[in-house]
Amino acid sequence: MNCTKCKTKAVIGLPRHNAAFCKGCFNGFVHDQVARAIKSEWMFGKEERILVAVSGGKDSLALWDILLKLGYRADALYVNLGIGAYSEQSHAKVTKFAEAVAATHGAKLHLHTVEQEAGAGIKELAMLIHRPTCSTCGTIKRYQFNRVAIEQEYDVMATGHNLDDEAARLLGNVLHWQEEYLDKQGPSLPASVAGFAKKVKPLYRLSERELAAYAVLNRIDYIVEECPMAKGSKTLQYKEVLNRLETESPGTKQTFYWGFLDKQKKKQPTATTMTEKDRAVLHPCTSCSQPTTAEVCSYCKMMARAKTVVPQ
Ligand code: AMP
Ligand code: FES
Ligand code: ZN
Repeated sequence: MNCTKCKTKAVIGLPRHNAAFCKGCFNGFVHDQVARAIKSEWMFGKEERILVAVSGGKDSLALWDILLKLGYRADALYVNLGIGAYSEQSHAKVTKFAEAVAATHGAKLHLHTVEQEAGAGIKELAMLIHRPTCSTCGTIKRYQFNRVAIEQEYDVMATGHNLDDEAARLLGNVLHWQEEYLDKQGPSLPASVAGFAKKVKPLYRLSERELAAYAVLNRIDYIVEECPMAKGSKTLQYKEVLNRLETESPGTKQTFYWGFLDKQKKKQPTATTMTEKDRAVLHPCTSCSQPTTAEVCSYCKMMARAKTVVPQ
């Protein structure tokens, strides 16, 4: 198998693009896909400051790497969730990568440790406040991503969601006809109201497999294990189904998700995170000032509850 572009020996085949690439041309392909995502979805410019949420996994570390190599001003945020060995290992991977990019690009890592603020790791906290672990985790991550982006005056916050993540989420939303979520599923969600950072997903044109290959070829040391809490989750089931379809018909995920984005664009030329109804009822949380539809935001409610139940 030879590289479609330069005809030297290929290291990876990409059936959905009917192509194969050597390492150099594959890196060029990946960078080009990210550059196209940034441009076509008006994500950010070279002068803007980007905060990348990094988990220690391949996608987010690859995203940080790619943005820096493309010449963007990108720092990162890691949220230590306090999930035993999984968090220890992912924290170590993030720190190691951050040290390297601090030296080469002057990039900075911000850190938030759940245990420090909540008094317990995510698993224990969820148990004590009687909420599912993953939704507790989601509330905390969303809150901290936004808080750090706003407080540290970043123009935009970027996550490592890839094509597989977005296609699986779309499948879940369609299967349950969650139309309200469908409207908020774009790769670029504007800031919409003061206090909410703009959020982007520059990897939405790249698959999980392509990003794993990118990380390996570029010696990015990442945590291979998924979060232990995700085992058996619906998202993983949807990914499995989509992978089966992809094997039979390469390009299925891309057609599904990109097709959805095309339709959304035709429906509403400027995608918004908020419906007009949401916007009308948003106001600052009386405890932390982040925008919320209630008097106190769900994060502050959770922390208040944690204070009453977590042993000090
Ligand atoms: P996941 O929901 O685990 O698939 O993660 C999706 C994206 O959220 C990742 O690509 C990261 O950008 C971000 N992310 C997930 N976990 C963390 C974390 N603990 N700290 C910072 N960012 C994270
Ligand atoms: Fe949040 Fe696993 S529970 S990443
Ligand atoms: Zn609050």
